[in-house]
Amino acid sequence: MSVSRRDFLERTAALAAAGFVPRLPDDLLGAAAPATAAPMAWHGRGRPLVVSSSNGIKGVRVAYDRMLAGEDPLDAAIAGVNLVELDPTDQSVGLGGLPNEEGVVQLDASCMHGPTRRAGSVAAIEGIATPSLVAKAVMDYTDHVMLVGAGATKFAKAMGFKEQNLLTEQSRQDWMRWKSRLNANDAWLDHDDDIKIKFTTGTINMNAVNGAGDIGSVTTTSGMAWKVPGRIGDSPVIGAGQYCDNLVGAAGSTGRGEANIKTCASFLIVEFMRQGLGPQEACLKTLERVVAMTETRLMGPNGRPKFDLEFYALTKDGRFGGATLYSGGKFAVCDEKGARLEEAAYLLKR
Ligand code: GLY
Repeated sequence: MSVSRRDFLERTAALAAAGFVPRLPDDLLGAAAPATAAPMAWHGRGRPLVVSSSNGIKGVRVAYDRMLAGEDPLDAAIAGVNLVELDPTDQSVGLGGLPNEEGVVQLDASCMHGPTRRAGSVAAIEGIATPSLVAKAVMDYTDHVMLVGAGATKFAKAMGFKEQNLLTEQSRQDWMRWKSRLNANDAWLDHDDDIKIKFTTGTINMNAVNGAGDIGSVTTTSGMAWKVPGRIGDSPVIGAGQYCDNLVGAAGSTGRGEANIKTCASFLIVEFMRQGLGPQEACLKTLERVVAMTETRLMGPNGRPKFDLEFYALTKDGRFGGATLYSGGKFAVCDEKGARLEEAAYLLKR
């Protein structure tokens, strides 16, 4: 029976008014997508693959092995990023992450599960080392997508997550050194170009697809170092920090979150892939959009952005790519050839 889009929408509206929420089959969702959509061929067989930011080099192996053992791609990817969240020496994520301007570690994370079209997110959560798992708990156990601040922390504790001090001695000392060089003339918009201690917008994003073409994606971070308390970056924003559409692929980001949020970059990368671009081309085209959307104060004298941003992407059929705004970046991949770092494509030469 053929159903026109208009018929379908009218019927759906009538059913929704009657309190019935239909589950839409994949092929109908594809048909209802914009006219430019879905040129990507899918023949029902893919290949397992994990792609992540370079700090996920150990995690991609863990995620890949778990998928081969039959674990769900999102659970596998989260296990991969948990390694980094729990590593006190990575000062951009989880335990040991650099704190906000008041010395408090506030973490952001989000995830998406392709096969069930669900998402979960937490932002500015405190005292929980694995916000990626809390984001998944929001997805699994609530009717919501995003919890922030005290509410997110309270939810995590209610779900049985252990509360702990996330500020390591190294990160505390870095924060004290940053604080000691502040002076009365400093303003929030002064950037840290001259800072001699670590400043980070580091993060980990990981995307995984299994042989059946089912996809999961996750991003987790301690966000921008020395941020204003309550600042939320791109990582917990669905469509910015990561995005996954089980018909197409997944994408995620590390780097300056503020630049990403304005372009909904992960969503845009997936949309470009839906229109037929390969993962690397989609990442590069999205970086062009980022540059076009950059405000003047963040442009250097040479007319180039003063920040970096990195994208990682994979498709349902097992292709992958990564691209950075400036040359010299790498990203982590694991497939049948093993775990390795690959050179990222770039938009601008450093
Ligand atoms: N991409 C990490 C952040 O800006 O928070």
